[in-house]
Amino acid sequence: MLSPGFSYITPLVSFGDAPLKGRRLIGYYMKKKKGYFITLEGIEGCGKSTQICHVARYFKRHKKPYIIVREPGGTKIGEKIREILLDKKNNAMAHSAEVLLYCAARAQIVHEVIAPALKKGITVICDRFYDSTIAYQGYGLGMDLRRVQDLCAFAADGLVPDITLLLDLPVKTGLTRAGRTDRIEGRSLRYHEKVRKGFLALARAHKRRFFVINATQKITAVKERIESILDDAFGS
Ligand SMILES: Nc1ncnc2c1ncn2[C@@H]1O[C@H](COP(=O)(O)OP(=O)(O)OP(=O)(O)O)[C@@H](O)[C@H]1O
Ligand SMILES: [Mg+2]
Repeated sequence: MLSPGFSYITPLVSFGDAPLKGRRLIGYYMKKKKGYFITLEGIEGCGKSTQICHVARYFKRHKKPYIIVREPGGTKIGEKIREILLDKKNNAMAHSAEVLLYCAARAQIVHEVIAPALKKGITVICDRFYDSTIAYQGYGLGMDLRRVQDLCAFAADGLVPDITLLLDLPVKTGLTRAGRTDRIEGRSLRYHEKVRKGFLALARAHKRRFFVINATQKITAVKERIESILDDAFGS
């Protein structure tokens, strides 16, 4: 977890699907100084870690306190779970164990970091959240979507992102960019295609909070698109 060192301010929680005028959150947040919950999603190598710094800079410019967290991990317990999940030696892991481990890591970070930060008015910018579990384990592995979604909601303790930035690009481009192969990345192209389709299906199902961004563009173009989405949402 990275913290830019801002002091904690106004206590309040995330609103999930808050009532928006269009998609704008203006007034709802900026005036009341509440913490926003922003997630970045997408397949391997789509640019989440690259762009998360620009999202953070946006909030820094607006003098909003924020933290950056990553999933799975972000806590001592979560990092241990992450190691188990990504270790190539663990290829005998049952799909159900995989989904439960992701949810366990998430439950810990929600409890220990995300919910307390939001309650203090701190914006949380999260590199992956439960949409990844639904896309990778639900759509990718073909597990029962309803069950996976229920587990995700349980682990997140009802928390819903305010804005989800989905960086979309062809699987081959993403995997080439990522250039590594952990246990999950090493799965077949077909698997990753299903994951990508899963993310896009989620975006269609949750139009209010999802913003699909063409991640084949240059880094600066993606950054500008993200900034315009945040300006639009937060009314700067
Ligand atoms: N728009 C872009 N155009 C070209 N290269 C990019 C772009 N965005 C990111 N990259 C590069 O692609 C690689 C993967 O980017 P990054 O690590 O940000 O992806 P990620 O979504 O965080 O991947 P992972 O899911 O593996 O964590 C990095 O080397 C990064 O510099
Ligand atoms: Mg990354």
